[in-house]
Formats: sequence, C-alpha cells, structure tokens
Amino acid sequence: MFYRPADGHGLPHNPFNAIVTPRPIGWISTRGANGQNNLAPYSFFNAVAYEPPQVMFASTAAKEDRGDTKDSVANIRETGVFCVNIVEYAMRDVMNASSAALPRDVDEFAHAGIALSPCSEIDCARVAEAPAALECRMTQIVQIKGAHNHVVFGEVIGVHLRDDTLVEGRFDVTTFTPLSRMGYRDYTRVTDIFELRRPDD
Ligand SMILES: Cc1cc2nc3c(=O)[nH]c(=O)nc-3n(C[C@H](O)[C@H](O)[C@H](O)COP(=O)(O)O)c2cc1C
Repeated sequence: MFYRPADGHGLPHNPFNAIVTPRPIGWISTRGANGQNNLAPYSFFNAVAYEPPQVMFASTAAKEDRGDTKDSVANIRETGVFCVNIVEYAMRDVMNASSAALPRDVDEFAHAGIALSPCSEIDCARVAEAPAALECRMTQIVQIKGAHNHVVFGEVIGVHLRDDTLVEGRFDVTTFTPLSRMGYRDYTRVTDIFELRRPDD
C-alpha cells in the first residue's frame, strides 16, 4: 500500500511509529525551578553528535496544566538542564509507570518507587540504578510543525556508567539488556550483538 499521511492511512492504528523502530528510550529526569522532580520516557530520542556529545528528544503533546507542552519540556525551559537515563529490560515496569499523565506536582520517582541520586554537574535527580545516565545542558528547544511538537537538544556534560556495565574497557550492553520501543504497545530488548567492520576500517 501507499498512503499520504495528510490523507490518512485507513488502518486501525497509525503505522508510523512501527515503521521507525526500534527506538531507544530516553528516560528524561528534570527538576522544576521550584525543586519538583520529574521523570518520563521519550522514545523520540537519540544521540546526534560526538564532539561535543549531544542528544535530542521530542515532546509531541501538551498537558492541561502546562499550556503548550509537557512537564519535561516545561522544566527544561525553567532550568536549562536535564538528564537522560538509559532503560534496562529489568526496569520496564517502573519506566512504564513513570509515563502516566500525572499532575505537574507529582514526582514520578516517588510515584513509581524509583530510587534517585543527585546529578554531579547539574541541579537534577537521576535514576540511581540506571545502567547509564547523561547529564545534559540544554542548547536549543526547537518548535517544529504541529501544535505541541518541541525538540530539545542538549550537550552531554557528565556521564555515569554503572560499574557492572564495563567489561574489558567497553560499555557492554549485554550486562543489562537495553529496552527499545516498537510501534503500538510493543517493545523489544537487545540480546544479540554482532560486529561489522566498515570498508575503510
Ligand atoms: C516508552 C515510551 C515512550 C514515549 N515516548 C514519547 C515521546 O517520544 N514523546 C512524547 O511526547 N511522549 C512520549 N511518551 C509519553 C510520555 O512519557 C508521557 O506523555 C509522560 O506523561 C510525559 O511526562 P511529563 O509531562 O512528565 O514530561 C512515551 C511513553 C512511553 C511509555
């Protein structure tokens, strides 16, 4: 089949986010100017540069108590910082619990029973047991086409790696099994890894 998104797909569910898969999940922790901690998963997330290291995530809707966006973007507007926590398979249920549409004054760390630690470089909490966490200083928030679509870019200024993830000097994802988002309500996890050398290696 072929469809133009502007004309509709005619399927029971939108296939778009099942086409671009698997997507890594950026579990974004932020803190409001009032000190309120916040945590939410975003699968429109990726790394976008090495030097300096930079990441992005996209927020695609709004909450009634936040005007034109969600709590994560609203907090980053206030403070200019955020932390990206990497999600392992073992944390799938608490990650999911943290995605609930909760009032702005609810702390998802407490709501989902997730232990937190302070970040080192920024005034923000991080998921204490996450396999990795990237402390970020926001560089740009870009409003893209659509009512509530915002892309947040950040420079990574601090990196936490859980001790058991380092094997012979490499960040070994088989030590924790990364969780990724598929379409609909589906997820996958990384269990098989193989190497391909580039032609000019
Ligand atoms: C695995 C997963 C991935 C998600 N990815 C996104 C995303 O990329 N963009 C988005 O706007 N919402 C996404 N959501 C929904 C948000 O997590 C949800 O709206 C959350 O309540 C936002 O929290 P906040 O208002 O504290 O930022 C995702 C939810 C889940 C469970």
